[in-house]
Amino acid sequence: MIRHLVFVFLILAVPPAVSAKTPPPFTAAATCGACHADHYGNWKNSLHALSYANPIFQAAYQKAYAETSGKAAQFCLPCHAPTVRLTGDYGAKDEITREGITCDFCHSVADVKNGAFTLKTGDVKRSALKDSAPKEHGAAYGEAFATARLCSGCHDFTNRLGTKVGNTYEEWTKSQYRTDGVQCQHCHMTAMPGKTARENGRDSIHDHSLGHSMEQMLGAVRVETKEPVWMNGAVLADVLLVNAGAGHAIPTGTPARTLVLEVHALDASGKVVEVKKKMYRKRILNNKGEEMLTDGDAFLYGKKVSSDNRLLPGESRLETFRFTVRPKDIVKIAAEAYLSYQPVVITKTEMKIPLFSATVNVK
Ligand code: HEC
Ligand code: HEC
Ligand code: HEC
Ligand code: HEC
Ligand code: HEC
Repeated sequence: MIRHLVFVFLILAVPPAVSAKTPPPFTAAATCGACHADHYGNWKNSLHALSYANPIFQAAYQKAYAETSGKAAQFCLPCHAPTVRLTGDYGAKDEITREGITCDFCHSVADVKNGAFTLKTGDVKRSALKDSAPKEHGAAYGEAFATARLCSGCHDFTNRLGTKVGNTYEEWTKSQYRTDGVQCQHCHMTAMPGKTARENGRDSIHDHSLGHSMEQMLGAVRVETKEPVWMNGAVLADVLLVNAGAGHAIPTGTPARTLVLEVHALDASGKVVEVKKKMYRKRILNNKGEEMLTDGDAFLYGKKVSSDNRLLPGESRLETFRFTVRPKDIVKIAAEAYLSYQPVVITKTEMKIPLFSATVNVK
């Protein structure tokens, strides 16, 4: 009964011109999914679909929201729940807002220039297909869908203090991949078996999970251990690290990611004699010179990039490690590269993603 009264009150309170004539600008993903089941299945478990709802973002967002008396909504949601750009639902009351980077946001992009989206919502959906003529809705070719430009609107983030927090797109623009015409989609949205639409569809779709296969990850970094040498009572081991497969720096994106090169010196029984580690990352400081260790803090307070030794696309780097603890016992050198990611949910947790390992005998 009370709910009924509230309902009636709401209808009366909303100016009829707005409520009656303005259709919701974006359609729910599940509606698209009724015909585009394979795209929907891919997308549903992607980080794009979870960009608003996932607990890592929520933890950071709620902290930022509290610290900025709510201003963080205007700041974070245009990328993490981008439909707010038209709906203005900064309180995230509508279901569509919580769908994060949803089908109809991307497929309503008419163009992207200098990080700004031009959105045209409605019947016409755009993609990189040039010959699609569905009777179910309008369709058009959108050049941005075939290029990195589509991704640039969100994957290039300089914060309000002018600090480059996550600039994957810019890293790509300076790489050979751009010169060679290799777009983000060529690595992150590869063709796979699937139906473009349930009825009248064709048999190949582009992967919408926007992750990367383990295969791709494992090819991204290559590690080579050169033959170690004896010198002045120590074992010197040269290790070559190559960014062989990413179209941007490794690590890229938010600053909570670190690439670690760990080199173990082993004795004849396989026991570790000594361990050396080298970290590759971007360090971001606030205006007091304190390091910003979480994504949210870097986005809000990052004032300056104090150092950045990440591996650029295509770059090879030779590192020398010196083992001095029990050099005579060392018979093997084993090197391993992995990505370390420390997101904050309730407490800080570390995730380790192995990328490459190699072992070599000491002569
Ligand atoms: C009633 C079924 C149906 C629904 C609902 C539907 N589509 Fe489609 N759509 C199709 C069919 C059929 C095609 C043609 C597929 C082809 O050409 O291979 C198509 C094609 C497309 C294309 C490619 C067209 C082009 O020229 O770029 C896009 C993008 C697209 N749909 C997006 C969407 C989005 C986003 C939604 C939800 C807002 C949606 N569709 C809802 C049936 C549907
Ligand atoms: C509207 C903004 C937006 C657009 C457009 C967009 N992304 Fe994203 N993307 C995000 C956000 C936000 C996340 C992080 C989601 C999370 O983890 O909470 C993300 C996550 C990703 C990830 C996963 C990162 C990981 O940690 O595994 C990849 C890969 C990715 N995007 C690639 C792309 C590519 C390629 C394009 C262009 C075709 C693109 N994105 C377009 C905002 C966007
Ligand atoms: C991050 C932006 C983004 C989101 C979110 C997204 N798409 Fe796409 N979609 C693309 C891009 C880019 C292409 C073109 C890929 C290419 O040709 O390399 C595409 C292509 C398509 C096509 C044409 C057929 C194909 O696979 O190339 C359809 C249909 C489609 N998407 C439907 C959907 C549906 C349905 C959803 C939600 C369940 C969705 N998309 C979510 C960016 C997006
Ligand atoms: C030549 C292939 C290639 C191209 C081109 C490429 N990427 Fe990647 N990308 C990768 C590989 C491999 C990884 C995994 C290694 C890593 O995490 O750094 C990755 C990782 C990422 C990640 C981080 C995911 C994570 O879990 O750490 C994001 C975000 C991303 N790419 C977005 C993009 C965007 C946006 C573009 C275009 C501007 C792009 N990529 C172009 C291959 C590519
Ligand atoms: C310009 C677009 C943009 C804005 C604005 C933005 N983000 Fe993000 N955010 C991204 C992208 C893209 C990713 C994921 C890919 C990457 O690592 O770069 C991401 C990833 C994250 C992650 C890691 C999520 C995960 O699943 O690991 C957190 C946490 C986060 N953002 C919090 C925030 C907060 C809090 C704000 C506002 C203070 C914010 N972001 C503003 C684009 C943005």
